[in-house]
Amino acid sequence: MTSVRICIVGTGYVGLVTGACFADVGHDVVCVDNDSAKVALLREGGMPLYEPGMEEIVQRTVKAGRLRFTASIAEGVAHAQVVFIAVPTPPQSDGSVDLSYIEKVAREIAACLTSPKIIVDKSTVPVKTGEKVAETIQRYCPHRTDFDVVSNPEFLREGCAVADLMKPDRIVIGVTSQRPVPTMRDVYAPFEAPIIVTDINSAELIKHAANSFLALKISYINAVAAVCEASGANVQEVANGIGMDRRIGRAFLNPGIGFGGSCFPKDLRAFIKIAEQLGVDFRLLKEVQAVNAAQMDRFLRKITDTLWVLKEKRIGVLGLAFKNNTDDVRMSPAIALCERLLAEGATVRAHDPRAMDKARSLLPGVEFIEDMNEVAEGCDALVIATEWDDFKHLDLDRARASMTHPIMFDGRNLFDPVEMERLGWVYRSVGR
Ligand code: UGA
Repeated sequence: MTSVRICIVGTGYVGLVTGACFADVGHDVVCVDNDSAKVALLREGGMPLYEPGMEEIVQRTVKAGRLRFTASIAEGVAHAQVVFIAVPTPPQSDGSVDLSYIEKVAREIAACLTSPKIIVDKSTVPVKTGEKVAETIQRYCPHRTDFDVVSNPEFLREGCAVADLMKPDRIVIGVTSQRPVPTMRDVYAPFEAPIIVTDINSAELIKHAANSFLALKISYINAVAAVCEASGANVQEVANGIGMDRRIGRAFLNPGIGFGGSCFPKDLRAFIKIAEQLGVDFRLLKEVQAVNAAQMDRFLRKITDTLWVLKEKRIGVLGLAFKNNTDDVRMSPAIALCERLLAEGATVRAHDPRAMDKARSLLPGVEFIEDMNEVAEGCDALVIATEWDDFKHLDLDRARASMTHPIMFDGRNLFDPVEMERLGWVYRSVGR
């Protein structure tokens, strides 16, 4: 393999996983972050986030000398043939994306560009951002150095980002000329995935269109779940039945309490907004948002239909992260659920295998319980809010015995309804 010298600007979720995995397959990587405390933590072997497998990869590649951290963008750029931009693109109040971090980094890269480089945008951005990045670098580069801008969106899921990066379905490379393509192929050769070379606008759209389609799949199955509940059908059977059609596929057809996280809600809004700016009313995606909001309302209604008044009720919540295998609580439906229960006057006790530290400041009124098997104690109901596998091993007998009445609202369909009723539970799940 041809080792490429790489700089990654931004050691957030995407930047850190990408940098570490690039180093692991043999590239020579420098990760840059302007947060010097974070750089110091990473240099000392600490991890700013939890992602299965990441810590080992960072340790191994740092030890091998292929991964380094610095707060100096000049040092990173000087080292690299290819500079990846992986900084946040947070939402603004009108749904559009705040591109100021991207713009700032483009200027910073331009200022220290003294030899030809490939500048790659990996952050999720609206279509036409690549053109702006190229313009900005051109404008702010004092040495008039030659460069290429590439769009290379990421498709990593939190909780399985390492596997997604190491075994991708496809790599998308958006370019304006063929010049950067051989080096980009060298970067991705070790991953043995199909590579799509396209124009920059299409590459940027592929990302927003992919995430919006996945969100649409989830809203679709959540809407089907509502019909299943009303008709006595079982959504899991329906999902299996339609998912076996290869044109549909079984993935992302698990109903729940709605999708969350730092990507789907934000990317949907951004895609709707950019379409609107381009003169297209993307009503289908607005409906995807509406179904998602209604899903949480329907779930809460199930709780109030059963418990009637929530004031002074003690409710145990299992799960705070927005999905399993992560400590990320950004836009977590589980957090929103706790807030709504608290607003109704309930007392909430909660546990999450990884996300309690990050949830604490968001949920000051909640009692956090270290052992998942103690959450049910004295509770009027138990709620499953995140799809952690750990919860399947809950001591159901102990929970049942310690509750005022064994009632479970399973927002992630982790248990079998027939078995739960046989065990004496009042059990409500989604679409079954
Ligand atoms: C998502 C995409 O899956 C990635 O491909 C993309 O790279 C990433 O956004 C991003 O843009 O950076 P992520 O948000 O990490 O990844 O997590 P997902 O596994 O997609 O889950 C998102 C939400 O959908 C979670 O709240 C999850 O619980 C929910 N979900 C997922 C369902 O309710 N049902 C499903 O069948 C699948």
